[in-house]
Amino acid sequence: PAQVVQRTLMSFGQMVTINAMLDTETAELIAAEHGVDLKIKEPETIEDTLISQIEDQIDEDSDLAERPPVVTFLGHVDHGKTSLLDKIIGLDVVSGEAGGITQHIRAYIVDKGEKKISFVDTPGHEAFTEMRARGANVTDIAVLIVAADDGVMPQTEEAISHAKAAEVPIIVALNKMDVPGANPEKALQQLSQHGLLPAEWGGDVEVVKTSAITGEGIDTLLETILLTSEIHEYKANPNRDAVGVCLEAEQESDRGVLAKLIVKNGTLKVGDIVVCGSTYGRVKAMYDTLDSRKRLEEAPTSTPVNVTGFDEAPGAGEKFYVLNDIADAREIAEMRSDRTRADKLGGHTVKVSFEDFQER
Ligand code: GTP
Ligand code: MG
Repeated sequence: PAQVVQRTLMSFGQMVTINAMLDTETAELIAAEHGVDLKIKEPETIEDTLISQIEDQIDEDSDLAERPPVVTFLGHVDHGKTSLLDKIIGLDVVSGEAGGITQHIRAYIVDKGEKKISFVDTPGHEAFTEMRARGANVTDIAVLIVAADDGVMPQTEEAISHAKAAEVPIIVALNKMDVPGANPEKALQQLSQHGLLPAEWGGDVEVVKTSAITGEGIDTLLETILLTSEIHEYKANPNRDAVGVCLEAEQESDRGVLAKLIVKNGTLKVGDIVVCGSTYGRVKAMYDTLDSRKRLEEAPTSTPVNVTGFDEAPGAGEKFYVLNDIADAREIAEMRSDRTRADKLGGHTVKVSFEDFQER
């Protein structure tokens, strides 16, 4: 009965009216206090119905085709992630970076021999933990860059734990081998201590010795990536509506919102109705991430693209889904932003923590 609930809450010093909202944890604690089993039923919303329908959609084996691997470069600041990627792709991003420090997630899909590989570069500066985690979350393979003259450093350790949490294979690039102070043996030792036993020492982690300056080991690194990808046989269904993740987004003065999305399954097309976090829109134009003037009509699985057409910038790390009806997309987006606002205002929901219960 409501009175019993009120009385229980009163014993914690919480005076509540009969219309008060209880959060889930509090409701569970009260139920436990009275030895009552509690089943919590969330109201069905259009969000639950449509998004879970998409999430639950299973691809038949016959629908699946090979897709390029998504490969994320992770590691401590200045260990050479951007330089290595520049060398692989034939770019020069690194010399244009402010202070020589990467502050964005970059993503490119490139042809390597017969295959395509999608690369994601992350910042190594300690301030960008969340971006590293995001990179690790969208990836199939993590390439851990460790400077051979510096060895395993704090953000190397952090990157190892992100990659392990994402349960993806790790390849180590032992970089800066050209530097006189390079000490690969010491780095290998440190890697072993962090649970990455190098293959040359009988473990299962491929370690490739590289230099972004001389180009040493870069072909071997690519071969190792392609081999790892072959073993895992990454597949997707090119014929379904796209699902994926927003890597980052910004409000541009001339083009409106520009969102960098990476497709995790299906094919994203111009004209698709997309909901991403608490924003939505119709894909107006898509641009190649390597050549910002090159417009794309379609983005297949594993492809990163810059997309215009969102009403507001979606949150980095938010998942996106393609829907059939713009009204549904708007409703879901609005529902989510209302919820975020309510969470921020807070205060209306009664909350008692487990500690409060115990301390009573
Ligand atoms: P953040 O993105 O800021 O974490 O750095 P990063 O890991 O991308 O390192 P970046 O590629 O910016 O390289 C840092 C510095 O090391 C630059 O001055 C590079 O020229 C230099 N560097 C990178 N790789 C090598 C290498 O293999 N050998 C030598 N000698 N220098 C390198
Ligand atoms: Mg960098």
